[in-house]
Amino acid sequence: MKAITFKGIQSLAYEDIPDPGLLDSTDVIIRVTAAGICGSDLHPYFGREQGLDCGTVMGHELLGEVVEIGSAVQRFSLGDIGVAPFTTNCSNCFFCRSGLTARCEAGQLFGWIENGVGLHGAQAEFVRVPMADSTLVVVPDGLDEGVALLAGDILSTAAFGAELAGVQAEDVVVVVGCGPVGLLSIRAALEKGARKVVALDSVVSRLELARRFGAIPVNFKTEEAFEIVMACSEGRGADCAIEAVGSPEATRTAAELLRFGGSLAALGVHTESHLALSPGEIYDRNLHYAGGRCSARYYMPAALKIAERDVALVSELISHRLPLSQGVEAYRSFAAREEGWSKVVLTP
Ligand SMILES: NC(=O)c1ccc[n+]([C@@H]2O[C@H](COP(=O)([O-])OP(=O)(O)OC[C@H]3O[C@@H](n4cnc5c(N)ncnc54)[C@H](O)[C@@H]3O)[C@@H](O)[C@H]2O)c1
Ligand SMILES: [Zn+2]
Ligand SMILES: [Zn+2]
Repeated sequence: MKAITFKGIQSLAYEDIPDPGLLDSTDVIIRVTAAGICGSDLHPYFGREQGLDCGTVMGHELLGEVVEIGSAVQRFSLGDIGVAPFTTNCSNCFFCRSGLTARCEAGQLFGWIENGVGLHGAQAEFVRVPMADSTLVVVPDGLDEGVALLAGDILSTAAFGAELAGVQAEDVVVVVGCGPVGLLSIRAALEKGARKVVALDSVVSRLELARRFGAIPVNFKTEEAFEIVMACSEGRGADCAIEAVGSPEATRTAAELLRFGGSLAALGVHTESHLALSPGEIYDRNLHYAGGRCSARYYMPAALKIAERDVALVSELISHRLPLSQGVEAYRSFAAREEGWSKVVLTP
């Protein structure tokens, strides 16, 4: 089959590799019809996250048709269309039962093989899905595949972010970063009743999307975010901040825009060794800080409902739907945050 594979820093290949086969009786094989490129794929791409084996198939956002079924699989039949969360789930362990499916004791991240151990990703014609009964979710009939795909990661991640930040009705919320995750976080905050959402980025086309998604867009390179947030919050600062970048600068920006007692939800994947805030700053301003991988499997049923309801708006953030053969070039444009590029959906 054809796949996008990791070769090293800023080096990917579109190449032929062997088809995956069933390894376990609980596996299914999916013929991928939609696979997303996520900001998280950029961390190994740029070498910020290390350890990914050369030859690993990239990508953890996947939707497609069940074409092979292990003997113990009960909930899926050939021809079913399923969407997966970005990690696999057993549904039985302590963490799955308590809703922290991101930390399933048997869970694996799609597209991460390290020292030969792990799971290939979804930017390929076929992908093996372990623990299929408790990992895969059936796609509602007729729902646009590119939009349904987003339930397995960024629609869920945005809902998680608004919850983690504790967004409540009438809150003023800051979203730092208007990539696909930040854009959907704007919606998730408004869904929770936020009075105003101020969204920061410097990519003009992404700021325009932020406006479409209901935020006050702020170009943090040319505008005074601090003044704008203060003006929106009676001079106090934002109640909550959702950081959707994954850099120390973004952490600092989010914290500086918060009021005393405000809460910061870090959705960005961070690879630096220390938090960009000191314990003293947190103490002196009574800040709350939380972060972590989204428990996508837990949020997916609700995320799919949002996908169905908001299909037109959500599809606006998909800037490109491209064949797998154009995946390597698509990574370059997405990684460079070229104007006009936001979510990329590959259609193998
Ligand atoms: N927690 C989770 O489970 C989870 C799930 C999905 C993605 N993520 C992470 O969320 C982050 C965003 O993902 P994405 O797909 O939207 O990525 P992206 O790279 O497309 O978006 C990041 C955006 O932030 C902007 N930005 C960069 N520095 C900034 C700054 N200092 N202030 C304001 N904006 C800034 C960029 O211009 C870009 O538009 C990534 O770190 C990704 O790994 C986490
Ligand atoms: Zn992701
Ligand atoms: Zn589990």
